[in-house]
Amino acid sequence: MPEGPLRLVVFISGGGSTLENIIQRIDDGRLTNTRIVLVVSSRSNVRGVEIARTADLPLAIIRKQDYADEAAFSSTLTAAVDAVHADLVVLAGFLCFWRLPAHWQGRVLNIHPALLPRFGGRGMYGQHVHEAVLATGERDSGCTVHLADNEYDHGPTVAQAHVPVEPDDTPETLAARVAAAERELYPHVIQQIAVNGLGWLDPYRAALCADS
Ligand code: GRF
Repeated sequence: MPEGPLRLVVFISGGGSTLENIIQRIDDGRLTNTRIVLVVSSRSNVRGVEIARTADLPLAIIRKQDYADEAAFSSTLTAAVDAVHADLVVLAGFLCFWRLPAHWQGRVLNIHPALLPRFGGRGMYGQHVHEAVLATGERDSGCTVHLADNEYDHGPTVAQAHVPVEPDDTPETLAARVAAAERELYPHVIQQIAVNGLGWLDPYRAALCADS
């Protein structure tokens, strides 16, 4: 059992529905022993920023275009999470690339709205994912929580939830079904870590090292 609450940083770029869900779960007591110590947004005028402000959470807006290159942007992200002594970072609709330094590898999670390793990678976000799933006639979709590494939507799978693809689905109806599964899966994984400590991730970290 970890000593204090899990110090969580949430990275966003847009709507912030994932952030909103995590905040709600902490507030209603379904996600315990967890404290959001920082929200990082790669965009300034998005709903996710309003959600962070309304919840009175510490917020850093770190925009890629304000830095000379990816390395400078990534170093700023790293400095921000280091400064708040974070235990875990969750990517929550974060659309930029954070090149992870060694000390953050194994402590960054991402959630993707499909069953990785299929339907992931650069450009595979939002409705693009669900359009691709429908175009290939899949009968099964879902969401994946995985450890992030230095490739888009790549790294050991920590948990997956499946949802059916219905014959009359549109990208919107499928997206809604997957989003409902995400609202359960991400807090569930965070709760495991909050209760059992970061060591709960060790088996997946081992896979991360084997892979790199
Ligand atoms: C979800 O599809 C999630 O899988 C992906 O970002 C979307 C949520 O964005 N990582 P947001 O939390 O509403 O900004």
